[in-house]
Amino acid sequence: MTKLWGGRFTKQAEEWVDAFGASIPFDQKLVEEDLQGSIAHVHMLKNQEIITEEEAAEIHRGLEAVLAKAKNGELEYSIQNEDIHLNIEKFLIDEIGPVGGKLHTGRSRNDQVATDVHLYVRNHTHTVMQSIRALQQALLLQAEEHVETIIPGYTHLQRAQPISFGHHMMAYFWMLERDYGRFEDSLKRTNISPLGAGALAGTTFPIDRRQTAEELGFDDIYQNSLDAVSDRDFALEFMSAASTVMMHLSRLAEEMIFWSSQEFQFIELDDSFATGSSIMPQKKNPDMAELIRGKTGRVYGNLMGLYTLLKGLPLAYNKDMQEDKEGLFDTVRTLEGSLDIFAGMVETMEVRTEKMAETTSKDFSNATELADYLAVKGVPFREAHEIVGKLVLDCIQSNKYLADLSMNEFKEANEAFEEDIYEVLKPETVVSRRNSEGGTGFDQVRSAIEQGKKVIKQK
Ligand code: ARG
Repeated sequence: MTKLWGGRFTKQAEEWVDAFGASIPFDQKLVEEDLQGSIAHVHMLKNQEIITEEEAAEIHRGLEAVLAKAKNGELEYSIQNEDIHLNIEKFLIDEIGPVGGKLHTGRSRNDQVATDVHLYVRNHTHTVMQSIRALQQALLLQAEEHVETIIPGYTHLQRAQPISFGHHMMAYFWMLERDYGRFEDSLKRTNISPLGAGALAGTTFPIDRRQTAEELGFDDIYQNSLDAVSDRDFALEFMSAASTVMMHLSRLAEEMIFWSSQEFQFIELDDSFATGSSIMPQKKNPDMAELIRGKTGRVYGNLMGLYTLLKGLPLAYNKDMQEDKEGLFDTVRTLEGSLDIFAGMVETMEVRTEKMAETTSKDFSNATELADYLAVKGVPFREAHEIVGKLVLDCIQSNKYLADLSMNEFKEANEAFEEDIYEVLKPETVVSRRNSEGGTGFDQVRSAIEQGKKVIKQK
């Protein structure tokens, strides 16, 4: 079979060499973006009188026919036609005859592929942003229900101070809000049209780049044709924002994994997001959370892959750039899947409030309260810290907790202790009193939830 670019060649490559160079096995994913770009291009060619109205109408009809077949899964792609662009051009010519060959006037596959990837990244940025919102909703739901549910807060994975479980959920809400912002921002640089840059230098045809940009919904056009065909920064930005989301999801995954363990028993995952063991009948494994933690590595890898791919490339297009796609597609699929799984997993998890309450009633996470208590009564904080440290040690040695100490024992440690100390030590008191802005105090958490709801409604 002769190639669409076969004119200059005297012999054909062997099939296995063609197969190695082809991108059609994976870039067929861009079929709709490619057709959308071509339709805009043909409209512009007609308006600029580069082709006749009749030719444009024929080509348009042909492209629509190919699009319909694509949607029905009826296209049979061929390796011989190398990539999605040449495959479509061939389908078009099969559909309407030689006039189909006029579509490529004033255009190159280099600006064409760049356009496709821009459209693809733009479309998926929108879906990802929606999925982020859905997960934020699920977090808000749990937060609202559990403002007054208390869990131990940790530093170094050692119990530090008790906190509201709602506050913990909202921490992830705000991370995702920043993620949303990163996609929103990168969209500004994604939604720029490279179409009309030609192979690298522009074209002699009197094209109108602004027309195609407008029809395709781009906000602007690249100012420089070399930059237009060489730029993949927008894909890097997408993959970088995706990596940060995955890092956030992976941290929550890790917490959900140990919260659902026998040791913690803080949550129980819904059966639909857990799996059993083929040998141990008692098992309920948090597979989805583990998988997402694992897939985070792939998404980082894809980002690093694209950075490395681009770093030594001279301007303008180089075939290396064909390698931009598989990692990008993989990142999109992984990210969208992970966000959707997470939204379901968070929404349906059962929070075991009684287990959580049990833990904070039997630990030393209220020790800071004692030190603060003495400090308020005028004892220098360093000294107060020392006094309470000794009390904790005494308790550990005699196998009890701070609230079990008698008034006498408190008085012995420091005269400033009064009867109200028992109230101060209760986990509810500890949490509700941390009412500084952004803190875990119940009132703070309630107002953070309100603010969160407003933020996602605005955008
Ligand atoms: N399949 C190519 C890619 O994915 C399309 C552009 C090819 N251009 C070229 N001059 N070989 O990057």
